Amino acid sequence: MAAVEPVGSPPPASRLVGALDCLFHVPPIVSVRCSSHRFGRHRRFGGRADRAGRLLDDGAVGRLWRPFRSLCDSGGVTDQHPSLTYSSYLALDDLLAAQHPRSDEHDELLFIVIHQVYELWFKQLLHEIGGLQVHLEAGDTPHALHTLRRVLTILKVIVAQVDVLETMTPREFTSFRGRLDASSGFQSEQFRELEAALGRRDRRVFEHYPEGTPGRDRIAAAMARPSLLDSFLRYLRTQGYDVPAAALERDLTAPWEPSEDVQRVLLAAYGDDAGAAQVAERLVDLDEGLQEWRYRHVKMVERTIGAKMGTGGSAGASYLWTTVTRSAFPDLWAIRSQM
Ligand code: HEM
Repeated sequence: MAAVEPVGSPPPASRLVGALDCLFHVPPIVSVRCSSHRFGRHRRFGGRADRAGRLLDDGAVGRLWRPFRSLCDSGGVTDQHPSLTYSSYLALDDLLAAQHPRSDEHDELLFIVIHQVYELWFKQLLHEIGGLQVHLEAGDTPHALHTLRRVLTILKVIVAQVDVLETMTPREFTSFRGRLDASSGFQSEQFRELEAALGRRDRRVFEHYPEGTPGRDRIAAAMARPSLLDSFLRYLRTQGYDVPAAALERDLTAPWEPSEDVQRVLLAAYGDDAGAAQVAERLVDLDEGLQEWRYRHVKMVERTIGAKMGTGGSAGASYLWTTVTRSAFPDLWAIRSQM
């Protein structure tokens, strides 16, 4: 990514937009941050943005301003705060100081870094899936497909990243494993949130999160929100499909029960292989992608610790095998044999 440099004199784009500001009697836009603050900026031009910060409607003034937005988004207009640097913008001091190996073993740093990278991707996935749900519920097929493409690309990256950890031999891992105590990916809050966004409703996960902790609250909140499947059913309704009311009005905190009525609607949606069918296929990709990650993870676990118990207290690989085919969209799989 290009460094965000402080600028001494206003670039031409700032002057252009600054002139527009005079016309519209709003404070100078050169002081407004760019892409990461779109939501606020568009609102101030009378526009509306979605939960993910994407523009839904420019508003009257925003439409006039549209030709200049690309200049801003491409970096033509920058935050003029003189102290902003690449490092401060990305909080690199915090990020690069957040690795605390508990041993002197060479390989422990890799173990920490890769988990942190995963957590960052989990964060991004949660962000994208939130945006995807907004698009689906608005019946916006192009943007839903666009976001799905990004989600699937990230999934490919995180599956491929297992390769890096597999360069660590069992002996290298054993050299510091004892220092991990009871910590384990089992306790990844964001992974549980991700599972909840994909429809998992299983109170057993709370065993690892004491009552009243922010992590537990976040997971519980995710389990009470519409899952991606719920948003997909709402999307199908916007596309004119006769989704059963029982499915649309179900208790969101309860696990999804596969439904033949819903499967009939899905088969109808596949009838012409158009928009709704394309979205459904990408959701199948997503389900398969997560299963792929689970498979690569358990194989990595097997080759690294064999049949040993996990640090989190589970039986280890044999437990993980029971999760590999967990599915977020069982109905989309069930209809395959009827097509
Ligand atoms: C040498 C590397 C790794 C080993 C040996 C390992 C081992 C394990 C084991 C044994 C479990 C079962 C729970 C337990 O008893 O601890 C587990 C769960 C888990 N691990 Fe790993 N892991 C490794 C790397 C990773 C990485 C890089 C991630 C990325 C975030 C990760 C994420 C998870 C998650 C999310 C779970 C919970 C899965 C579930 O319950 O469905 N693990 N891991």
